[in-house]
Formats: sequence, structure tokens, C-alpha cells
Amino acid sequence: MMRNIRLVAAAVAVTAAGLAADGLRAQAPADVQKAVDAAYAKFKDLKEGKNADYIPALAKVDPNLFGIAVLTADGKVYAAGDVKTEVSIQSISKVFTMSQVIQEQGLESIEKRIGVDATGARFNSIIAIEGVRTVVGTGAPEMNPLVNPGAISATSMVRGANADEVWRKIIGIHNDAAGRNLSVLQDVYKSESDTNQRNQAIGALMLAYGYIKDNWQQAVDLYTRQCSIGVNARDLAIMASTLAFNGKNPVTGKQVVDGPKVPGILAVMATAGLYDDSGKWLYHTGLPAKSGVGGGIIAVSPGKFGIAVVSPPLDDAGNSVRAQRAITEISNALGGNPLATAR
Ligand code: DON
Repeated sequence: MMRNIRLVAAAVAVTAAGLAADGLRAQAPADVQKAVDAAYAKFKDLKEGKNADYIPALAKVDPNLFGIAVLTADGKVYAAGDVKTEVSIQSISKVFTMSQVIQEQGLESIEKRIGVDATGARFNSIIAIEGVRTVVGTGAPEMNPLVNPGAISATSMVRGANADEVWRKIIGIHNDAAGRNLSVLQDVYKSESDTNQRNQAIGALMLAYGYIKDNWQQAVDLYTRQCSIGVNARDLAIMASTLAFNGKNPVTGKQVVDGPKVPGILAVMATAGLYDDSGKWLYHTGLPAKSGVGGGIIAVSPGKFGIAVVSPPLDDAGNSVRAQRAITEISNALGGNPLATAR
């Protein structure tokens, strides 16, 4: 009996060691840095894509800016290129505002009010609102918090007695996920506020259809402000890794989102993180991710790493060209696809 227990214990130990070795092999520091450096060198001179210009301030950002950062479980950052220059976070903020709502009101709050289904349409599609809306309370809404109508509605759901209180919570979760105090890029905020009539129309429609309960103007303004938060590639990688490691920031050790809530957040990212190209992205990488028109993309390999790339030129769907290529390359090199068991 005793011998059997020892044999079983030994077998478990060998298996555990094997798994650990495998995990370590996939993420040994030299391997990670090599993969990051190789992707940087491969895509450094790639000139495809174009800066977003429907927000005038974004057209002025240096298109050559290119930074890659990866964070592994030990909180170590592996980087190449410019990981210090800030760009506006744009739609990546949608993940963290959604996380704030989920953290304070539970996973079901977002599912019930907004929905967690892909629209298959562009991020600011108004046809998508008409196509998938249901009257709230009479059916499951088929929207998601990562396209503008759902995102503006999610912003409206953050609780607070006034705009300042709501904003403190929104910037708070971004700060906690990044591990430092972030600030709004005022030129981007002003530029987007001057030109966001389409988002105002979306906000008004979402009030009319019951997704937003009141004060759609405040929701659109706070949404515009959250999109203008300044981040660099390093910040974004730390934010991604907070989601990769059960909602706990691996650099500061702060629990930002309850662990059991993270899979739901990642599921929405997998479904809708790269807008109408989300399926294509998942097909090639298996990674929950989120892009922003400022040129950033974050991606999450659960339990393995968080990665971010900043490079402003975008493709037709609004996703950074170099970021998509570099993340795919690095994740493949590190065995990051959570859907793949065979190497
Ligand atoms: O609502 C907008 O138009 C921007 N503030 C955010 C859009 C965005 O980043 C979509 N990204 N791919």
C-alpha cells in the first residue's frame, strides 16, 4: 500500500516536473527575448497600413512608432523598440471599462444589458444597432461591450453619483491594470470631442432603445475621455498580463479583477476584440485580444503571457498591421495559442 502511494507520488512529481519544464521551456527568458527581437527585426520596416484620420489628432502621430512588450508570470518585461512613447488607448479601454462593470455588478450585468455576441459589423456601425437590438427586458440583447454602441452603454453602467465619481472608477481600473497613474492626452480628447457626432448619435440611439438609462451625453463624454488615456507598449503589456494572470497585476501584485470573472472578459475579447476581423484573428492565434485605432493591440495567453504592440498604421478593419503580425509571430514562437495542444 505504502509502496503504491510512493509510486503514485513519484509519478505525479515527474508529471508535474514535466509540465513545469514544458511551461518554462516555452517561456524561458532567452526564448522570450529572442522571439520579441526577431519579430521586431522582421516587421520594423513594414510600411503597410495608414494612421486613423477620422480623429484629426491621430493622423499626426508618428507612423514609424513601433514597440513590443511581453510580460510573463514572474512580472518580467521583455521589450523591443519604443515602449515609452504614449499613444491614446482608444478602444482597448473598452476592455477595462467592461471589467469595471463586471467587477462591481457581476458577469451577468453585461450579458443582460448589452449582450456578448459579435455583431460582425464595423466598430461604429449604426446598422448593427438596428439589426441586433431587442427591447431590453423582452429578449437577450445581441450586442457586445467592445463595439461603440455596447461600449458607450457599458460606460453608462459604471456607478457613481456624478461624472467625476464615475471617471475616478474608470481611470482607477486602468491605473490598477497598468500599475501606474495614467493621464488623458488632452489634444486627443479635444480632437475626438470636436468630431464625435457619430458617437453622440449612437449614444442617443442607445438611450432610445433602453441600453442607456439616462444622460447619454455624459456616457459619450466619459467614453471619449477613456479613449484618450495615454499608454505606451509597456503599460499595455502589463494591462494584458493582468488579464493573463487571473486579474492580478503581476508587477504590483494587486488583484484588479476577481479571478473567476476573467474568463468571461477574455471570451468577449475572443469574440469581438478585433471587430469584424475577430474570427480571422482567432483562427490564426487563438488569443483573446483587443485593438485600438491609436495603433495598440493587447493579447492574452492565459497563464502564460500578456503581450502588447504599438504601431499606428491600421488596416481596413481598423487594426494595427504591424501589431497583428508581430503578436502572431511571437505567440507562435512561444506556444501561446490556448486552443492548441499539439506543437
Ligand atoms: O469611438 C471611437 O471612434 C474611438 N474613440 C475608438 C475607436 C477604436 O479604437 C476602434 N478601434 N479599432
